[in-house]
Amino acid sequence: MKAAQIRSTFLKYFESKGHTIVASSPVVPGDDPTLLFTNAGMNQFKDVFLGFDKRPYTRATTSQKCIRAGGKHNDLDNVGYTARHHTFFEMLGNFSFGDYFKKDAISYAWELLTEHFKLPKDKLWVTVYQEDDEAYEIWNKVVGVPAERIVRIGDNKGGRYMSDNFWMMGDTGPCGPCTEIFFDHGPEIAGGPPGSPDEDGDRYIEIWNNVFMQFNRTEDGVMHPLPKPSVDTGMGLERIATVLQGKHSNYEIDLFQNLLAAAREAVTASGGEGFDPNSPSLKVIADHIRACSFTVADGVIPSNEGRGYVLRRITRRAIRHGYKLGARTPFFHKLVAALVAEMGEAYPELRANEKRITEVLKTEEERFFQTIANGMEILEGALATGAKVIDGETAFKLHDTYGFPVDLTADVCRERDVTVDQAGFDAAMARQREQARAAGKFKMAAGLEYSGAATTFHGYDHLAREAATVTAIYVDGASVQQANAGDDAVIVLDHTPFYAESGGQCGDSGDMRNATSRFVVEDTLKIQADVFGHHGRVVEGAVKVGDTLNAKVDAELRAKTVRNHSATHLMHKALREVLGEHVQQKGSQVTPDRTRFDFSHGQPLTDEEIREIEALVNAEILANADAQAQVMALDDAQKSGAMMLFGEKYGETVRVLSIGSSKELCGGTHVKRTGDIGLFKIVAEGGVAAGVRRVEAITGDNALAYTQKLESTVNGLAALLKATPHDVPARVAASQDQIRALEKEIAALKGKLASAQGDELVAQAVDIKGVKVLAARLEGADAATLRNTMDQLKNKLKTAAIVLAAVDGAKVQLAAGVTADTTAKVKAGELVNFVAQQVGGKGGGKPDMAMAGGTDAAALPQALAGVQAWVADRL
Ligand code: SER
Repeated sequence: MKAAQIRSTFLKYFESKGHTIVASSPVVPGDDPTLLFTNAGMNQFKDVFLGFDKRPYTRATTSQKCIRAGGKHNDLDNVGYTARHHTFFEMLGNFSFGDYFKKDAISYAWELLTEHFKLPKDKLWVTVYQEDDEAYEIWNKVVGVPAERIVRIGDNKGGRYMSDNFWMMGDTGPCGPCTEIFFDHGPEIAGGPPGSPDEDGDRYIEIWNNVFMQFNRTEDGVMHPLPKPSVDTGMGLERIATVLQGKHSNYEIDLFQNLLAAAREAVTASGGEGFDPNSPSLKVIADHIRACSFTVADGVIPSNEGRGYVLRRITRRAIRHGYKLGARTPFFHKLVAALVAEMGEAYPELRANEKRITEVLKTEEERFFQTIANGMEILEGALATGAKVIDGETAFKLHDTYGFPVDLTADVCRERDVTVDQAGFDAAMARQREQARAAGKFKMAAGLEYSGAATTFHGYDHLAREAATVTAIYVDGASVQQANAGDDAVIVLDHTPFYAESGGQCGDSGDMRNATSRFVVEDTLKIQADVFGHHGRVVEGAVKVGDTLNAKVDAELRAKTVRNHSATHLMHKALREVLGEHVQQKGSQVTPDRTRFDFSHGQPLTDEEIREIEALVNAEILANADAQAQVMALDDAQKSGAMMLFGEKYGETVRVLSIGSSKELCGGTHVKRTGDIGLFKIVAEGGVAAGVRRVEAITGDNALAYTQKLESTVNGLAALLKATPHDVPARVAASQDQIRALEKEIAALKGKLASAQGDELVAQAVDIKGVKVLAARLEGADAATLRNTMDQLKNKLKTAAIVLAAVDGAKVQLAAGVTADTTAKVKAGELVNFVAQQVGGKGGGKPDMAMAGGTDAAALPQALAGVQAWVADRL
């Protein structure tokens, strides 16, 4: 039975038992920050189990795309080493939400396996949770599985409910005892039954897990009973296909045959040869292309954090396995086409994104191929010492400089029975993080100690505040009671309209004064989360702790900054609209001059895309919609669909900024209406890292100044060309054509000149034993001219050995020619090298014609002078 048929038989069987067929959810869970990737069929029903969400059905069945390559369920390290593990797999499942429970779940499973899939009953084993007598009795009494094939498994993983037969989705969430069904692949395969010491072998394979969902585990470890006992089952499609196709390894099933063939072909085309066609590395590659392609299809891009880093690790691991087989150029992305052919019908998102997936993986490959050879050399060097443990510093260097994720290094080491000093690696990583943190902290707090009251921020609604009290002053990093005229200082106020740098928006500048003193604020930075430090200089009088000051933000600069900040939100929205939902903010910096925005995207933006984004943002500006900020619970913000950054820690309440069609979590300051932005213009686009692009844009008067400057440049060009501005491109193109024509003419003239020189040279040839020998300089010649002249001279001199040289600065270009009747005695290659060696170079060619270069023109006259004697010796 083919995998596709098994999939549909499963779904139809459960449909016939009253289940609704529900589509697979993406591998990237939409709104569950506790999960890196979808790791089980039940993920999309988590809230239904918990009673938070209701569906029109109480029974469902799915074929779910799953990834187990990080987080609680991680099979990455097993892939390639066992017959049954994958980073990506399809999980067939049936679910009951407070409907049927243990008895029906077990009976359905048994009926499907033995009556529809026709598996021999005596090949099936089951496990139950130690305490679950009910499940035991159902298997034994109702279904009739003999006691010797029912294994009870208790808490075997070091804690209460820590068991192979107690399933948890993650550290928190729905969970419960489970019963697993195993298939016995027969005595020819190594391994023991579940619960035995060699249960990890490939003989007894778990094919189906039936979980009896009963609890919700919260962060404090407490098990809360679920509103209604439920059922969640999962059967790996690849494993059941292996059984039904009479195979013993998942990699032998139909789904993998074409992928393995494509892997062999791609590796061979990239330089691999003589490798074992059944190499485990090919299995790793065939497995990884599925995980990587589905992950990219669902919007992830290789990066150095979170999901992006998991993707990077899997991709690089696949590349390393290809490298091991001899691939030396990108090969992995070529498998996408084979995968689309295999699975594109069941999962149309693969087909729809084929081009993008291929490009994303290719870019990552090109990047890693730049460093893998050097990295492997270092790793091979370390392994060659015979050490049984690779030290943490080496692993860190491979990670930091050569882009080897530590599990990739460990994967190579494991093939040689060597381990990696993980603790040493972690220590090196921690050291680097600490250094980076120390460097970054300088600006934020400048190490200032502060224990007074927090600063109240009024700057959302006010640009000036009267009578703010000075709560602390720092000069040269030390807390002082007073700062005097001329002092550079940091002043903390009890309340302020000054925005302190955060969330990418720069700090405000402005001034603070009272009747006697004035302090110019150059920047505002946070000393602590809610303590604002005003950095600047006392320019009049003195400022003392306890003084009151009137604080006033530079309104013009602030207005420029908010225009750029609000435009950033609109641009973020437009980027997602034009490029796709995979666009995620990776960094942003907003100043009065411009906004700089980094985001995930695999390739440069086209001019057309840039125009489209500009048009969308400017349309929002023209619509002149209100901007509104609302403080709300994080949950509500999430539900409202506000954009937030994955992996960012937010407090319980957040500020949601709605402007035009954009809604984003943001603590920054913004325009009142979109029209305040005036004009939006993108001025730069480029790459900052693999898969991360950077756009710079300007607004308002900056945008006007920019277009005016462009206009004056074009006008200036037009004046030089004596054309109208719109004629400039055509005129420049015409000039370039003219230049090209002139260059051609010059080359032709040079050729003529050289051949005229050639005629003179014929007369200089010396006859040595019937062979005309000539060694001469050809002024102003290039390689082509040397060659042409050489041909002419050979024709004219009939029997000859010739060396021609052209000099350009210190560089020498040489050509040697020998007529066919003389090559038995004199070889052009040797002749040219005789001269080349003396001018610091070397070369080569055929016996009748050879070229060489040199770098020491001063030595040329003597070298040429020796040619006659050298040739004479050989005649
Ligand atoms: N959630 C369980 C598992 O993943 C059953 O589907 O094994």
